Amino acid sequence: MQIHTSIESLRSALRNAGKVAFAPTMGNLHAGHISLMRQAQDHGDCVVSSIFVNRLQFGPREDFDKYPRTFDADCQQLHAAGVAHLFAPDETVLYPTPQQYFVLPAETQDSILEGAARPGHFRGVATVVTKLLNIVQPDTVLLGKKDYQQLMVIRNMVRELNMPIEVIGCDTVRAEDGLALSSRNGYLSMNARAEAPRLFAQLQVVARAIQSGQTDFATLEAAASAHLYEHGWHPDYISVRRQADLLPPSPGDALVIVAAARLENTRLLDNLEVSLE
Ligand code: PAJ
Repeated sequence: MQIHTSIESLRSALRNAGKVAFAPTMGNLHAGHISLMRQAQDHGDCVVSSIFVNRLQFGPREDFDKYPRTFDADCQQLHAAGVAHLFAPDETVLYPTPQQYFVLPAETQDSILEGAARPGHFRGVATVVTKLLNIVQPDTVLLGKKDYQQLMVIRNMVRELNMPIEVIGCDTVRAEDGLALSSRNGYLSMNARAEAPRLFAQLQVVARAIQSGQTDFATLEAAASAHLYEHGWHPDYISVRRQADLLPPSPGDALVIVAAARLENTRLLDNLEVSLE
């Protein structure tokens, strides 16, 4: 695996690389990230990843400074997963001067769920992903459904801005007890780690209720929230939405249940698509 810290070095390496499949990350890699790299093999001649902790998408009171940085271990995992090129720029490479041009996601996305909870977050994500896509110029970009709204924002951005790139959403990789893998799981105490699978368990409870015909989503959402609260959580939202745009559903829409909840000081995020067979 070649590691590139400059744009020029990456660009010249990719000049004759054939079809490029790209999976961006912020490092501290786990099996969820690695599953993107493996799926990327099926979508190009050459798999490219990036590690860049993007200050622009962190709020002033968020964990930018203490975000875990594990570069050497990350490189070993990427190499073993068949990544050919890693782009790992310094901040001075991506932001040589303070960024003054931004990509603003649709107001409908920026004002709901994660957009509402984290003002400016999706602006930071859309801006850095645009920069990375312009630098790497991939044919395909792979993103996790774990960050469902992020996937939607980038999918819609790529379409509306006519970027000639295919966006692929990859399934969430979970620990055996159901907890979605996340770099932030490392912040959990032992007790909280044991409690953490309850979030996904509640998503499954809501999904089963919908599958058995319940349509009063507000009641299901309130019950799941109350249950988590009783077990020490501070839920931000548990919400049944439509898959297409995460707005409140109409009858017949394909559904996804999205959730964000704080356990101790860690904010965990998860979602579950409801299959109606
Ligand atoms: P990061 O949190 O490092 O995630 C990188 C990619 O891995 C994202 O597409 C994310 O959805 C995916 N991912 C994370 N956990 C996963 C899991 N358990 N199963 C499957 N995929 C998972 O998301 C970001 O970085 C940044 O916002 C980024 C897009 C790189 C822009 O800075």
